[in-house]
Amino acid sequence: MKLKNKVALVTGGTSGIGFEAARLFQAEGAHVVVTGTNPERLGATARELGDDALVLAVDLRKVDEIERAIEEIRAKFGRIDVVFANAGAGSAAPLEEVTQEQIDAQFSLNFRGLFFTIQKAAPLMTKGGSIVATTSFLNAVGTPGLSILSATKAAIRSLVRSLGAELAPRGIRVNAISPGPIATPFHTKLGLSDAQLSETAAAIQAKIPLQRFGEASEIAKAALYLASDDASFTTGTELVVDGGLTQF
Ligand SMILES: NC(=O)c1ccc[n+]([C@@H]2O[C@H](COP(=O)([O-])OP(=O)(O)OC[C@H]3O[C@@H](n4cnc5c(N)ncnc54)[C@H](OP(=O)(O)O)[C@@H]3O)[C@@H](O)[C@H]2O)c1
Repeated sequence: MKLKNKVALVTGGTSGIGFEAARLFQAEGAHVVVTGTNPERLGATARELGDDALVLAVDLRKVDEIERAIEEIRAKFGRIDVVFANAGAGSAAPLEEVTQEQIDAQFSLNFRGLFFTIQKAAPLMTKGGSIVATTSFLNAVGTPGLSILSATKAAIRSLVRSLGAELAPRGIRVNAISPGPIATPFHTKLGLSDAQLSETAAAIQAKIPLQRFGEASEIAKAALYLASDDASFTTGTELVVDGGLTQF
């Protein structure tokens, strides 16, 4: 078991990549703490993970909710060994249609929420701790209509280097995992019509050297590697799991 008795916080753990990671981390021996916002998905996740898991409603756009969640973890477990800072969402819009509200909504969740998750969790972490942040293939390629979402992910990539440097003296590793296009509900929340969605999906798939979307479980396995002691000499890096999309 790669995470035996570790306490692992997974944000955005009620769906897609985070949900698969929470299940895998638990199967590898971790006590998992999962966050999300949607009551139905929170309930379904709690039922799936069972009594050992702590499933918390946390809107990461609100720092006081992050603080409350970290306090609950401190009260129940007393420490955090792994943070998978994974929650994220995006909205698609071309340059001329991007609004201040769209920029604020995406940065407040994807970047600010991730930053404060790490800031508030770090005091509960000790030597050997691991932080894994979810970036995206979008930080390496330009994609029309996804400028703001992509910029949030590029900001996270930078943050991983800075916080990795800050936390290295304490023996805490900070890495990113960069998924390619993955079959999750993420895409249905971009604000595209069904026709735009299937057209975009087909266009992206045609560019992926392995000729398919990835599965959430494939990202979960890579996140497990970075979270575990298997990656004990790896920090500041970004593990790309994208079917070759950004590499060839
Ligand atoms: N799918 C892809 O193709 C792809 C590619 C590259 C990178 N990524 C990244 O992978 C990460 C996970 O995405 P996914 O594909 O697994 O998407 P997903 O299935 O839509 O899951 C997103 C998760 O984020 C949570 N979330 C959304 N808004 C939140 C908020 N305000 N506060 C707290 N949690 C919130 C959701 O919880 P609720 O639903 O309960 O609110 C859900 O658990 C994201 O950071 C995404 O940018 C995905």
